[in-house]
Amino acid sequence: MFDVEKIRYDFPMIRNNPNLIYFDSAATSFKPQCVIDEVLHYYEYTNSNIHRGDYDISFEVSKLYDDTRKQIASFIGAKRKEEIVYTYGATSSLNTVAINFGNKFLKPGDVILTSMVEHASDILPWFKAAERSGAKIEYVPFPSNGKFDLDAYEKCFEGKNVKIVALPHVSNVLGYIYPMKEIARIAHEHGAYIAVDGAQAVPHIKVDVQDLDIDFLSFSSHKMLGPSGIGVLYGKYELLDQMDPIFYGGGSNARFYPDCSLILKETPEKFEAGTPNIEGVLGMDQAIRYLSSIGMDEVEAYGTELSDYFISRLDELDTVEVYNHGSKAGIVTFNMKGIFAQDAASYFNKQGIAVRTGNHCAKMLHEIIGVNETIRASFYIYNTKQEIDRFIEVIKDTTLEKCVDSIL
Ligand SMILES: Cc1ncc(COP(=O)(O)O)c(C=O)c1O
Repeated sequence: MFDVEKIRYDFPMIRNNPNLIYFDSAATSFKPQCVIDEVLHYYEYTNSNIHRGDYDISFEVSKLYDDTRKQIASFIGAKRKEEIVYTYGATSSLNTVAINFGNKFLKPGDVILTSMVEHASDILPWFKAAERSGAKIEYVPFPSNGKFDLDAYEKCFEGKNVKIVALPHVSNVLGYIYPMKEIARIAHEHGAYIAVDGAQAVPHIKVDVQDLDIDFLSFSSHKMLGPSGIGVLYGKYELLDQMDPIFYGGGSNARFYPDCSLILKETPEKFEAGTPNIEGVLGMDQAIRYLSSIGMDEVEAYGTELSDYFISRLDELDTVEVYNHGSKAGIVTFNMKGIFAQDAASYFNKQGIAVRTGNHCAKMLHEIIGVNETIRASFYIYNTKQEIDRFIEVIKDTTLEKCVDSIL
């Protein structure tokens, strides 16, 4: 059974900051003690490089590190552990796909189909891939509520050579879970591949890459209870195997010769040149174990319960405009009428409530929802309805004057 009080106890950031209400987990999440302990244990007991040392602690750490791939593969339903490439985070994974896929498969006139919902990290790499290859960027039209229109999406393929679809599974601003299984099916029916930005999905919902039948999936550990600086690129093995790495160096090659030829290691090692973020991988592994022990269905249900509850409480207020009714995954985006989002956030901060404001790196989303600046409250497994109630009281008490005073 989901026991939020027990969960809260596992998070030192919550124990150590009793007056803080943290509603910014879509930016980065808190870490449970087991993740912190794992990283510390590495530094305190087994600090050594992997696959390079002929001594016990290196053997021990190499074995632990290698075993993590299997567990991460199973967490996202990958067919085999070789489909898991370690990166430095979602941005690094998304760039890796855009560069590698672009270099291998994109030709002039091909279409990269994406959207104006995109986070910068999912769209800028494709802008650059288009520039290098001569492919064109096109956008799936979205209605002004930001929900996904499958018919409008399917029409985008008519008469076009769409080579790849690049979309998020969950919008980082609107929190909608897009119908990825259908999106992938339609892409494949039209001979396109699909690269999914899973940065906001993998932490909050059960993502099964085989069930969804997606070709690539990118996500970060730090948004799902793990350390920063480590992330995952999932790719179907046959696709990854055809692609060349971006980085070359130690750990990713089998041999190299004076005539400048080289033999790379197999996928995924060929993509992982240099000493990896060992403690990050070990910490991410613990984060995934922790989430799995709760169960992703429970995690998702609780995120939805909190978003539904917060939206229903906001709807009682006529000083607030909510932009994502029906959103899931613990993300609620709104504004206070007549108050600039950042001014409101300064006041909330003075009341001990941490939220994010602005365009949330989705700098074209205003073309869809019609506003540039919003307040985003994002929840995770350690947040409570009591915290939401406290936030509602603060919102009720918020005036333009108080907000202005809080920034002076
Ligand atoms: C939807 C989405 N994609 C990509 C990213 C980039 O993630 P990272 O900064 O961890 O690389 C984020 C981060 O907020 C995001 O929300």
